[in-house]
Amino acid sequence: MEKLAIIGGKRLAGEVEISGMKNSAVAVIPAAVLVDGIAIIDNLPNIKDVDVILDILHDLGAGIEKITPNKVKIDGRTLVSKQPSFELAGKMRASYYLIGSLLGRFHEACVPMPGGCLLGPRPIDQHIKGFRSLGAIAEIHNGVVDAKAENLFGNNIYLDVVSVGATLNVMFAAVLASGTTRIENAAKEPHVVDVANFLNCMGADIKGAGTDVIRVNGVEKLGGGEYAIIPDQIEAGTFMIAAAATGGDIIVKNVIPRHLEPLSAKLAECGVEIDEYDDSVRVKASHKLSGTNIKTLPYPGFPTDLQPQIVALLSICEGVSVVTESVFDNRFQYVDEIKKMGANIKTDGHSAIIQGVNRLTGASVRVTDLRAGAALAIAGLVAHGRTELSNIQYIDRGYVGFEEKLKGLGAQIARIESGEAEVVPQSNVSCTIN
Ligand code: EPZ
Repeated sequence: MEKLAIIGGKRLAGEVEISGMKNSAVAVIPAAVLVDGIAIIDNLPNIKDVDVILDILHDLGAGIEKITPNKVKIDGRTLVSKQPSFELAGKMRASYYLIGSLLGRFHEACVPMPGGCLLGPRPIDQHIKGFRSLGAIAEIHNGVVDAKAENLFGNNIYLDVVSVGATLNVMFAAVLASGTTRIENAAKEPHVVDVANFLNCMGADIKGAGTDVIRVNGVEKLGGGEYAIIPDQIEAGTFMIAAAATGGDIIVKNVIPRHLEPLSAKLAECGVEIDEYDDSVRVKASHKLSGTNIKTLPYPGFPTDLQPQIVALLSICEGVSVVTESVFDNRFQYVDEIKKMGANIKTDGHSAIIQGVNRLTGASVRVTDLRAGAALAIAGLVAHGRTELSNIQYIDRGYVGFEEKLKGLGAQIARIESGEAEVVPQSNVSCTIN
C-alpha cells in the first residue's frame, strides 16, 4: 500500500502551476452525453476521477479519444446504453450527473447511487424533485436511480437546499426539454458557470449561471464544439494554505483570483500577505500568524472543500479559532488524525474550536477523504519530524501530481510503499513557525 512520507520544517518557496478543476471536469464529461456530435474538452486534470468518468462514457458507447493527457475528444453520436457500470459508478460521486444527462438526451437513465467521500448523509432528493418537475418518473430502488420520461417539459424548480449537484443535474435534464426551465435557489459555484458555459458552447441556451436563478431554454440538439475548463480554485487554495502554514513565499499560477477571494480574505485576516495578479496570486507569510473564525457556505462563501486544510493552518496560529461547517453534517472526521500530531481541537457537532499550538509533531496518520488528505499533508509539512499518510488513494482522486508539486516548492515529501526503508531522510529541522 502506498503512503506519503513527509519531513516537516521546510518553508515552501517558488512557483506552482494549477491544473484544471476536478469538480468541473467530472461534471462537464457527463454533460457531453447531451451532445449528439463531437465535444472536445481541454485543460482536464490528469486524475483518477477523470479516468473513471471517461471509462463510464466509453462503456456507454461514446467514442473517447485522448488528444493529449489534458484534452479529450468525446463522440456522443455512438452512445447506446442508458445504464453505467455499477462497479465504476460506485467509485465516485459525480457519476450521478449521468442521471440528468442520460435522461435529458434519451429520456431514460438507470444509474447506481453514487459513491464519493463520506461527509455525512448526502441525499439526492433535490435532484429527484427537479427531474419529476420536468415530467420524469424518478425512483430510487435496489441501489439505483431509475428515471424515465415520455417527454421533458420546462418548469420552475425551487431547490430547497443550495446544491451544486442538483443545480447541474436539473440543468442537464432541462437542456433539451421543450420550453423554459427556471432553477431557483441555484448554486453559484464557479464550476456551475463553467459547466453552463460548456453546454452553451455545445449549442445550449442557458442564462444566469452564477446567480441564484438559472434559466434554461430547451433546444432541439447540441451539435458539439470545443471548450477548456477553468483552473481548480480548491487545488490553488490548498497550496496557498500550505505556503501560509510553512511561513513560505510562493506564486500560484494559472488561477482566477476572483474565485479565490473567500480564502484570500481569511488568510489576510490571519496576517498572510496576498498579492493578486491577472492569473496568479503571491502568498507570503513572514511572521507568526493569528487565528480567525470561519464559517463554510455555498459560493461566494468560504468553500467547504478548503475547511480541513484551513483547520490544519489554524491549529498552529496564535489564539483560539472557531470553524463552523454548515454545508456537510460530518466533515471533521480528520480531526482525530491531526490531534495525533499535537493539535488542540475540540469538535462539537458542526463546529471545531481550535487552540493554536506552537508546533505539531510528526505521526502516522490515516486519510479519511480527499480534502482531509490535503489537510494532513499540510500538517506534516509544518510538523517537527516525520509524518506518514496512509490511504492516499483519496488524494490521487482529486490532485494532479500532489507530491511532485509540493517537492517543486521545496517540501521534503516522497511516495513510499508501506514498510519501505526511509527514503525521506530524517531531519531535525523544525519549522520555526512564523
Ligand atoms: C459537490 O458535492 C462537490 N463534489 C463537493 O466536493 C463539494 O464539497 C460540494 O459540491 C459543495 O460545494 C463534486 O462536485 C463531485 P451539494 P455535491 O449537492 O454536489 C445537501 C470535494 O472534496 N443536499 O452541493 O454532493 C448535501 O447533503 C467534494 O471535491 C441535499 O440535502 O454537494 C449537502 O449537505 C467533497 N439534497 C449540501 O446539500 C440534495 O438533493 C451540499 O451538497 C443534494 C444535496
